[in-house]
Amino acid sequence: MTAATAIDATNASNRTGYRSFKLGSFAFTRDEYFVYITWPTKNGPMTHYMSADAFLRAMMRDVAWGFFYYQVNFDAVFGTNNLYGKVEMFAGSFNETYKTAGINLTETFDTPVIMATFKSILDDWCNEGFDPFSAPEETGNTWMGAKRGENRKAINRNREVCERMVGLPGDAPMRSDANGYPVNRAFHDVPQDEPEVHVEPGYEKEIGAVNLFAFLSRSDVTWNPSVTSVCKTSLYCPTTEEYILPIKHGNDRVEWFIQLSDEIKWEVEDKETGKPRAKVIMKAGDVAAMPADIRHQGFSAKRAMLLVWENTNPDIARMHAENEIPPYPVEF
Ligand code: PHB
Ligand code: FE
Repeated sequence: MTAATAIDATNASNRTGYRSFKLGSFAFTRDEYFVYITWPTKNGPMTHYMSADAFLRAMMRDVAWGFFYYQVNFDAVFGTNNLYGKVEMFAGSFNETYKTAGINLTETFDTPVIMATFKSILDDWCNEGFDPFSAPEETGNTWMGAKRGENRKAINRNREVCERMVGLPGDAPMRSDANGYPVNRAFHDVPQDEPEVHVEPGYEKEIGAVNLFAFLSRSDVTWNPSVTSVCKTSLYCPTTEEYILPIKHGNDRVEWFIQLSDEIKWEVEDKETGKPRAKVIMKAGDVAAMPADIRHQGFSAKRAMLLVWENTNPDIARMHAENEIPPYPVEF
């Protein structure tokens, strides 16, 4: 590790028109292509930089998902840990090299405080036309260059959460052309017919069925699971995936993946150190459990359909943390 260095934030923001931000001891700046994160270390200030595209896509997920289940790594250095009420922000604390060099920093914030800062950063740093939920082919190079307008509509869209099972009366309207959800360019071959349901009189509001493939073919976002069914603490969260999952997720529980179409490649690393542990190639029909002691990131060349199956048992994170249960779900 070379001597720590910091960039001149004033210069970058004067030239490009983006605001700079501070939260605790961390400072954030962006310019035409990059985001710079600066924090104090025993060797002086240290600056880490990443593509503004990757940074904004990751920050959008962190905000939209309320800091998600435990750990969201923007890359190998910077990220957040959800303590459910408070959030830790860290640089280098889950990177073996930074930790060994003693130049990592973790600070804890009340969730509303860090949420407000992240929302302000997104608001100022997402240019007109840049939708951090869209595939690069769809949103193009709008993230680049000097500050140009905003895209509040995209960054403030609400995460879809069903009230009841999707399709039952009382739930949000089904995705359709009329509702502003056209079939995505990658899914024109997906049949749009809906199942025929014959219900015993009196049970019309209780029984329903949907064509989940048709539902997913109309998703207008990528790497953004929507909750489509809830059964006690079991959540079905299907999603459509294209390009790269913008975060490396370090979970505090097991989650299951069911590959519904096409192919996704997963890179699996150790949760604490980031050391590589496995590569998983999932083809349509494959099922995998992601253990509770890893971080993972997905890659998808052609838009793919994935079912993420989550466990919201409020005690499960503690059970893993105290090694009451193994980090994997089954013994073979
Ligand atoms: C995950 O972290 O497991 C995850 C998140 C978003 C997705 C897919 C998987 O779209
Ligand atoms: Fe995950």
